[in-house]
Amino acid sequence: MNSDKFLDRAHDIQDTYGYIPEGEIDKMAKEFDVPRAKVYGSIRFYSMFYTEPTGKYIIRVCDSLSCHINDSKSIVESIKNYLGIDDGETTKNKKFTLEVVECLGHCGEGPVMMVNDEMYTHVSENMALDIIKDCT
Ligand code: FES
Repeated sequence: MNSDKFLDRAHDIQDTYGYIPEGEIDKMAKEFDVPRAKVYGSIRFYSMFYTEPTGKYIIRVCDSLSCHINDSKSIVESIKNYLGIDDGETTKNKKFTLEVVECLGHCGEGPVMMVNDEMYTHVSENMALDIIKDCT
């Protein structure tokens, strides 16, 4: 299986649907002539691919060491309380998905969070909630 083509295809599908639906996994198995389980396993390997619908906004909060010692936990708790969801969950209105993740590569500027492709550093609880409230 050509992994570059496979990843390009997976990205295209996710860009279209916001996740990779079951039916598309079947099509990819045929297209790349591999068992469905291998396609599914490969997709699950990469954290940027989703097999379930996600929110319009995916909120990622880093909880690796540098962010953790800068109290990323309180940011996560504030977001959980505000949105009424837990780590890995999506709001009922499909607007937000929350993910507590490993290092986002800005360790000296923590706590760090992302909303879709936008990176935020030195995040406070209030700032996190303001960022979320600005998502329309
Ligand atoms: S530890 Fe949080 S961005 Fe690296």
